[in-house]
Amino acid sequence: MPKHAYSLPTILKNRRVKLESLISNPVILWSGKAISRNFPANKYPFRPSSHFLYFAGLPLENAVIRLFKGILELFFDDPPTKASLWHGELPTRKEVASLIGADEAYPLKELNSKTQEAATIAVQDPVTYQQQCQLLQRTIQPSNQLTGIDLDLATAIVQLRLQQDQAAIAELRKSIAVSVTAHQAGMKATATAKTEAEIRGAMEGVIMAHDMTCAYNSIVTVQGEVLHNEQYHNALKSGDLLLADVGAENALGWAADITRTWPVSGKFSSTQRAIYDLVLAAHDNCIAQMQPGVEYREIHLLAARIIAEGLVDLGILRGNPTDLVDRDAHALFFPHGIGHLLGLDVHDMEDLGDLAGYETGRTRSDRFGLGYLRLDRTLRSGMVVTIEPGFYQVRGILHNHDLRSKYDDVVNWERLTQFADVRGIRIEDDVLITDSGTEVLTADLPTAAADIEDLVMDQK
Ligand code: GLY
Ligand code: MN
Ligand code: MN
Repeated sequence: MPKHAYSLPTILKNRRVKLESLISNPVILWSGKAISRNFPANKYPFRPSSHFLYFAGLPLENAVIRLFKGILELFFDDPPTKASLWHGELPTRKEVASLIGADEAYPLKELNSKTQEAATIAVQDPVTYQQQCQLLQRTIQPSNQLTGIDLDLATAIVQLRLQQDQAAIAELRKSIAVSVTAHQAGMKATATAKTEAEIRGAMEGVIMAHDMTCAYNSIVTVQGEVLHNEQYHNALKSGDLLLADVGAENALGWAADITRTWPVSGKFSSTQRAIYDLVLAAHDNCIAQMQPGVEYREIHLLAARIIAEGLVDLGILRGNPTDLVDRDAHALFFPHGIGHLLGLDVHDMEDLGDLAGYETGRTRSDRFGLGYLRLDRTLRSGMVVTIEPGFYQVRGILHNHDLRSKYDDVVNWERLTQFADVRGIRIEDDVLITDSGTEVLTADLPTAAADIEDLVMDQK
């Protein structure tokens, strides 16, 4: 079992007491089960439900907790004797109950008689989801169709998980520290690597060597304009930019989410450098403006304005930057949101649809320049969010007939051809909102172009 610098049962108890003050029904949370590949004994790596992890603290498979009237019950089967042949000694129900601070512990089948009036959250794996519905004798609505007591529970959980406690921040720091080392290793490996896959191997190797896993599928690509590119076969060529979006998840499930973009040759071309510095200006200015009380949506629009302004200065866009943003022209090159919540999930609580990301009464815009904004809340102390502006030349956007004609008057297409060596640039950091402003949790990994070049050239 992982070791902690603080008392895990005490932290978990605090979270559960807070949850109980917000909801009167019994709460039942399932951890879920590993999914098999090809045949039952060959499992994909198991990852528990984040809501279970938040209140139970340990990555247990096929476990359930029930919380009601200040009593925490654990439902978990002792490992069968024959399991030790294949898996070694596994913790018993009693040991697990003591680690998480459970008041009572029972075999799983005892849960059958304790499900009345219970609120829950749907898990992702289909086998457990079926069991949840059977035991509660109703259909549990997934994500954005939540209603009734499940919606009350989800709302209460969002209220707690939006602002991270000290234990959560301590865990996030661990994942972030390893992710920073992984990015440094990726940059250093570039001098000799021949393919994207080799850089990915160098980066994920660091994460594995620290006994962590990836919080999401790594993006390590010379085609940075493919936003969630998960292919790694391309050769690295001098003149390419490499975009690496790689983050670790630690033993208790806390995620990091970092992107850096660097030149394969170790030196940005003048066009790459111009756009890189523009994306960095958006990144820095956004972080400088963040503090409790500020609207995250305004931070997104600030990034959009800075990018529009910079593209006007570079002769790629024409017009007044504010008007360009009002027309969503920035989204031709910056089509996603400025970031999202970060915590136990890389897009924290996105299993609940926009319940966590959007303040009550707010809904997603259908505007081209706002539709992918994942967070529209007033910033509060304790929130951890990403800031990840970018510039991309996406064929599907820039060669889309309708978009091209809509924005023909504001884009200098000929000037844009001079920036053909800039396919995709993103700079992404993880930011804690503090009482007075921000702490950039990922600050140990440089962002300045010259520092990035030095790291790639292995001069630091
Ligand atoms: N790594 C996915 C994202 O940045 O949102
Ligand atoms: Mn992100
Ligand atoms: Mn990312």
